[in-house]
Amino acid sequence: MDSNKVNEDIEIEPFKIKMVERIRRTTREERQKILDIAGWNLFLVPSASILIDLLTDSGTGAMSASQWAAMMEGDESYAGSSSFDRFRESVQAITGFEHVIPTHQGRAAERILFSVMCKKGDVVPSNTHFDTTQANCESAGAEAVNLPIPEALEPARQHPFKGNMDTLQLLNLIERVGAQRIPLAMITLTNNATGGQPVSMANIRAVKEICSRHKIPLYFDASRFAENAYFIRLREAGFGQKSPREIAQEMFRYSDGCTMSAKKDGLANIGGFLCTNDDEMARWEKDLLILTEGYPTYGGLAGRDLAAIAVGLNEALEEDYLEYRLGSTAYLGNQISEAGVPIVQPPGGHAVYIDARAVLPHIPPTQFPASALAAELYLEGGIRSFEQGTLIYGHRDQDGIEYPGAMDLLRLAIPRRVYTQSHMNYVIAKILEVWRRRGEIRGLELVYQATTLRHFTARFRRAGVGAHV
Ligand SMILES: Cc1ncc(COP(=O)(O)O)c(C=O)c1O
Repeated sequence: MDSNKVNEDIEIEPFKIKMVERIRRTTREERQKILDIAGWNLFLVPSASILIDLLTDSGTGAMSASQWAAMMEGDESYAGSSSFDRFRESVQAITGFEHVIPTHQGRAAERILFSVMCKKGDVVPSNTHFDTTQANCESAGAEAVNLPIPEALEPARQHPFKGNMDTLQLLNLIERVGAQRIPLAMITLTNNATGGQPVSMANIRAVKEICSRHKIPLYFDASRFAENAYFIRLREAGFGQKSPREIAQEMFRYSDGCTMSAKKDGLANIGGFLCTNDDEMARWEKDLLILTEGYPTYGGLAGRDLAAIAVGLNEALEEDYLEYRLGSTAYLGNQISEAGVPIVQPPGGHAVYIDARAVLPHIPPTQFPASALAAELYLEGGIRSFEQGTLIYGHRDQDGIEYPGAMDLLRLAIPRRVYTQSHMNYVIAKILEVWRRRGEIRGLELVYQATTLRHFTARFRRAGVGAHV
């Protein structure tokens, strides 16, 4: 009997656990009280009261024994640290870029990039800018323009590369505003804002070809470059036999630089970087780096952080890791979708997005269906998720009129190498329980909002219930 074959076919996490962190169960009554105190906003719930935390995949991953070992050897020298050399070697081996500028996280790389490359009146197209990218672009005076393909805006629509940029719209934009007003174009890999969806190599090539023709540098937001590379391997003809590293290297060959949050596919808890092949740009960028981040051989990071990223970038490209990573996200998405829960299709690389507006059609967008669903999932199982809907993308005017966002999604982002399949089975069971009771879920009324980025501190009460204390 070929029993080995059977065992090989059963998918398991490609790691064993050397260190554990206790998670605490709470009762429903406790969670009810915690939610009341937190104004029904999961950002305001202490992590000690969370059982499974799917708020974000950013900086929440578990590091490997090799990363911890490298950290012990971190060189904390202010200048010329050997940890920086190791970090630069790892980045260059994957991206091929000449200049590698470390930053404390992705948004710092974005701020430096846009401060150097953009001025008032400029336009920066992207498949979709992540929110910090958009904010940094706009703070440099430029207009951030999103050009996703139309399929990306239909949650239920299946498409293998829903993260692609609409090249026709890119051409129209260039024609309308003129290439001289476009100092760079960007591609976000994978496209977080549209559901962690990948970008195909064909699309990357097509965008690069258009950019080259108009002398526009193409930059990647490479935060999830390894997940994107593996999607290409799985879904794009001609890449099935290539390693994730070879695919990533090819992707980067079509770009002129990148920003990166190492808190994602750097498998680190902090860090980021900015890369370019342009010597003059790099000089300006390093000057700005020194002003706010630090000397160019540490850029706001400890030597040990650089060491962890140097190892993490290579681990993120390991085939069994990526198979597990995309497999476990798809497992969660497919299980709840097959039971009828409407999600953004297909499941993304780092997260599953539930279409809260479709789950709770009786709750108007002005009563925050995704926030209501997030609160209910916490009440049901101590699970923390993240609303990506009216609270973030909508706004309230001076007269108190609420304007909804385009969609109300609930994001379940999966930290890297943290949860096992039994944790995911628990999450699935709790989501399905909430799904069964969806008709009883009530909306939320906003009772406090900050003037900017209101989702972090907003407070709610349940719609139709008396004043909140
Ligand atoms: C696509 C993308 N770009 C940039 C960032 C910003 O990175 P950081 O949080 O390290 O500043 C994020 C963070 O979630 C992201 O998802």
